[in-house]
Amino acid sequence: MEIINNPTHDEIKKAAKALKDGHLVAFPTETVYGLGADATNEKAVSRIYSVKGRPSDHPLIVHISSINLLEKWAIDIQEYAIQLARDFWPGPMTLILKRSAVAKDYITGGQSNVGLRVPSQPIALALLAEFEKNGGIGVAAPSANLFGAVSPTSAGDVGEELGAYLNTTDLILDGGRCSVGVESTIIDCTKPHPDLLRPGAITVEMIEKTTGLKIFSSFTKSEIRVSGLLESHYSPKAKVIIGKDAEPGDGFIAMANQATPAGVIRLAIPENIEEFARDFYSALREGDRRGLKKITVVNPDGEGLAAAIRDRLSKAASGK
Ligand code: TXA
Ligand code: MG
Repeated sequence: MEIINNPTHDEIKKAAKALKDGHLVAFPTETVYGLGADATNEKAVSRIYSVKGRPSDHPLIVHISSINLLEKWAIDIQEYAIQLARDFWPGPMTLILKRSAVAKDYITGGQSNVGLRVPSQPIALALLAEFEKNGGIGVAAPSANLFGAVSPTSAGDVGEELGAYLNTTDLILDGGRCSVGVESTIIDCTKPHPDLLRPGAITVEMIEKTTGLKIFSSFTKSEIRVSGLLESHYSPKAKVIIGKDAEPGDGFIAMANQATPAGVIRLAIPENIEEFARDFYSALREGDRRGLKKITVVNPDGEGLAAAIRDRLSKAASGK
């Protein structure tokens, strides 16, 4: 596996070719790093599952360079879904749509729906555009972490966690730290009303404003199989506790206005919610690097990104 720092256009072309040839390419997006494979190459996609240790019935998001490829992958698209795509792509939003015949069972986990996203990170967009110039139509990419673990927000995180499982012909593109830091908002657009399956930087308020529709928020009880809905997920090795009462020796993550309790190890001190989201996963990883047994996190208040963080936090805290 080769790590390419701040890839040049030629290096991005080389990575696109590697994808086309069936290799894996980890790449930065604005949310978290993804582990990419040609979404029409079953063998390449199956390697994503083996590298991550992910159950094979969990669906993958297909990344495309623009809205123009939407109808390649999806059929019977609701008007409001098109509106969302127009307003928020490229960006941190995934739409769940009725799949076309190109979205095979090995992408959708056997479900009749497919997840699609146009990321905004420039390296990701350039990679997808080059891949499509080579005849590709989409890159399947889950977060580039081991199944159940914390999503990676830097190329170093990816190398540390997956390096041992990648081949010499696989690549990691290093585009620095992710600007958003939590995974994309997932919206089920297969029904007359949008349904929020995973909260993220594209908020309920933004979705309702764009569509003029009331959104359901079944992300705590959806029947659609979303691996993020499994009990223990986004978990570091340390036990995650939600609350203010950190004990000496604990890691501690809270907004800057929250004082550091005596004897704890402050892992992040974000000034605002955007910074909280950006630093959250790397702070959890830092806790593990330091071998901490417990990390106490004070839930951030508010809607939007704060709701996304609380969602990930409740999953990181459950089941362990
Ligand atoms: O921000 C993101 O979405 C990142 C970057 C790399 O794009 N990707 C990501 O992928 O978070 P992953 O696989 O770690 O999480 C995607 C979630 C999974 O929980 C999966 O079950 C769900 O999306 N998903 C994908 N396709 C789906 C589908 N057809 N129906 C329902 N859920 C789906
Ligand atoms: Mg993931």
